Amino acid sequence: MRVSSWYVEPRICGVLRHEIVQGSYTECVSLPPAPDVNDIRAMLRAVMDPELGDNIVDLGMAGDVVLEPGDGGYIVRIGVKLTIKGCPLRAQIKKDIESRLIHHPSIVKVSIDWGEMTADERTAVMTRARWNAREQAPDTAVPLSARVLAIASGKGGVGKSSVTVNLAAALAAEGKTVGVLDADIWGFSIPRMLGMPDRLQARTVDGREKPMIIPNERRVGAGTLKVVSTGMLVEDEGTALMWRGLMLTKAVEQFLNDVDWGHLDFLLIDMPPGTGDVQMGLARMLPRTDLLIVTTPAVSAQKVAIRAADMARRSFLRVAGVIENMSSFTCDHGEEYALFGNGGGITLATDIGVDLLGQVPIEPAVSDGGDKGEPVALAGTGNAATVFRAIAQRIIDETPTNDDMAGCSARDADESVVTVRSRS
Ligand SMILES: Nc1ncnc2c1ncn2[C@@H]1O[C@H](COP(=O)(O)OP(=O)(O)O)[C@@H](O)[C@H]1O
Ligand SMILES: [Mg+2]
Repeated sequence: MRVSSWYVEPRICGVLRHEIVQGSYTECVSLPPAPDVNDIRAMLRAVMDPELGDNIVDLGMAGDVVLEPGDGGYIVRIGVKLTIKGCPLRAQIKKDIESRLIHHPSIVKVSIDWGEMTADERTAVMTRARWNAREQAPDTAVPLSARVLAIASGKGGVGKSSVTVNLAAALAAEGKTVGVLDADIWGFSIPRMLGMPDRLQARTVDGREKPMIIPNERRVGAGTLKVVSTGMLVEDEGTALMWRGLMLTKAVEQFLNDVDWGHLDFLLIDMPPGTGDVQMGLARMLPRTDLLIVTTPAVSAQKVAIRAADMARRSFLRVAGVIENMSSFTCDHGEEYALFGNGGGITLATDIGVDLLGQVPIEPAVSDGGDKGEPVALAGTGNAATVFRAIAQRIIDETPTNDDMAGCSARDADESVVTVRSRS
């Protein structure tokens, strides 16, 4: 009795003939040679996860490949793990896998078993994606020795610039050379807050065709601040607005490429509010940038700030920590008032899986320092100054120095930072 045609490889035909004797099968037809699993993996290397910018094999998304005979050829079963179950790219990845494999003469069907990555696997994938982004980034004039920290938030007025100038000053007071890049192109405030209003100069530097911008310098204790801002290029904020959309959109790129920074231990970038072009450009040009996210204790601010963290994830920037600013106000009688509510900083930090680096209270000395060009972290005696100095010290402690790096390449050192704080 003929039950069905059954296609098998010649070498296992004998086994089936045995079954035929038992009455199940009447025919034994040879299959084409089985595809090589290594060839299949090589084909899968052409399937990119467009969001992560690498192929699904090297990203560890493609798991086991199993071949089963069937329908005159082979059915290929592939396990594919997505970063999150509901990944919107699922349909695209499926189509891409199928269209690449189905043209193989021995493959008749492709079946995908979808899975979801564990938190650890996801961290490993993100680290790799960041690594790739870094490898593909164009060269900038920012020295490799510099740890780059961008101070960001979801919206304006939460204290990004205040945090930037105070951390920069506190780092310099510890003997560090600190670059400050004012990326708030239209709303610059760094020159005033650091008391450095001078116009930027340019000069020709050996081996460069174009003249380079020389950052304005200010000595702070044993350290130095090196500062660039569009506020040092244009007459006043009115002029800056007039230039809007013209050369100013390119200003950040220019500050990364055309500034003669010299040696830097740190580069602090004061970001404009929101999650626009400047952030994406920075992620492309300086993917080793770590973000410090500033938020106020209000839950509404925290919700906006989480967008900055989201943008960081999408562009593979690492979040180094959260700083809560305007945490509370203590009056002359010692009474503490939570003017902007409570808990925004720790909620945000917990949500994105990083540390809350500090809570800076509201103190008139912070805004006075900003107005006078003398950041409170320098000579201030209040709580805000203490918190800024403590955050700066923590940043110094967790950043490998050149001595720590002796014997390994800058890349290895960079990677060691990733492993120390790869919780984002
Ligand atoms: N901790 C603080 N205590 C008192 N005033 C502050 C504090 N942080 C910021 N400010 C003031 O709030 C205003 C907005 O701060 P700013 O740093 O310019 O924010 P952003 O750069 O996010 O727009 C400024 O006038 C600044 O002096
Ligand atoms: Mg600002």
